[in-house]
Amino acid sequence: MATWCDCAAAVGVSSGTDALLCSLMALEIGPGDEVITTPFTFFGTAGAIWRVGAKPVFVDITPDTFNIDPSRIESAITDKTRAILPVHLYGQMADMEAIMAIAERHGLAVIEDCAQAIGAVGKGRKAGSVGTVGCLSFYPTKALGAMGDGGMIATGDAALAEKICTFRLHGETEKYHHKYVGGNFRLDSVQAAVLIIKLRHLDSWIQRRQTHAARYAEWLTDVDGVVAPIARPENVHTFNYYVIRVRDRRNEMMTHLADCGVSSAIYYSLCLHQQECFAALNHAAGDFPESERAADGVLALPIYPELSEEQVAYVAESIKGFVA
Ligand SMILES: Cc1ncc(COP(=O)(O)O)c(C=O)c1O
Repeated sequence: MATWCDCAAAVGVSSGTDALLCSLMALEIGPGDEVITTPFTFFGTAGAIWRVGAKPVFVDITPDTFNIDPSRIESAITDKTRAILPVHLYGQMADMEAIMAIAERHGLAVIEDCAQAIGAVGKGRKAGSVGTVGCLSFYPTKALGAMGDGGMIATGDAALAEKICTFRLHGETEKYHHKYVGGNFRLDSVQAAVLIIKLRHLDSWIQRRQTHAARYAEWLTDVDGVVAPIARPENVHTFNYYVIRVRDRRNEMMTHLADCGVSSAIYYSLCLHQQECFAALNHAAGDFPESERAADGVLALPIYPELSEEQVAYVAESIKGFVA
């Protein structure tokens, strides 16, 4: 995996969530620290920051990619900021060049959340190979899915990889001697055995996703009120999810698709700054308008390698039927 991700090292861990948690622990980020991230992501991203005792500081997204907007990051930095945690949402990388420039200026670590973006490329760099660490998920819905939970931390820093291995095993440096308090973050051997076989197919599976995405884009051009996902020219999008924006009646469209036998999903219907468990952060609706707009309009259509061209056409026809 290290080779595949263009990294010096990759450490198997128990899940994508634990990859984030273990990375934050190994970077010794904790109480009193702040970590900048996006409010429009899977809960586990900010949950990991909270669990180490640090404060998630949210920065709004850019509407075309749904990823953290680098132009808003610098104003969120304080003397407590320790790291930036961009998420490469849906399979498209955040603007890592801009993020790394900010991080270097302020001496911050960068934790890439690559859970949805294995194989994605931005400006010629692979997801997980740019930041201090890159966190992968092998949850079964991911482009490379195990038969259960699994994850990995990629890094270009061999010493940090060693420290991460220590945190993966309760911070143990020699038998029954614990330099740190870590956790049990091991990748299960059975999952590893499945993943090492599936890895051989990953490139072709990603290509199939991209072919389906191109077909969807053709079929959905000119459908009123529907915007197909956009990959910026410098990015290779892997389409872990194929997420359209629906101008209005998104939920009704979802019901219509279900009536047609097509499942769809909303990633994510409630932004993280609006979650009950983060009430102490004192955010309110309206704080991150682009994220909230996205939460109200996104809809993920079926995408996976085995999908047939006819099925893609059927999904698109079902959408056209609803709009008509
Ligand atoms: C953006 C993001 N971060 C983190 C995770 C957590 O990964 P896992 O489910 O393997 O714990 C996920 C998984 O859905 C995710 O989509």
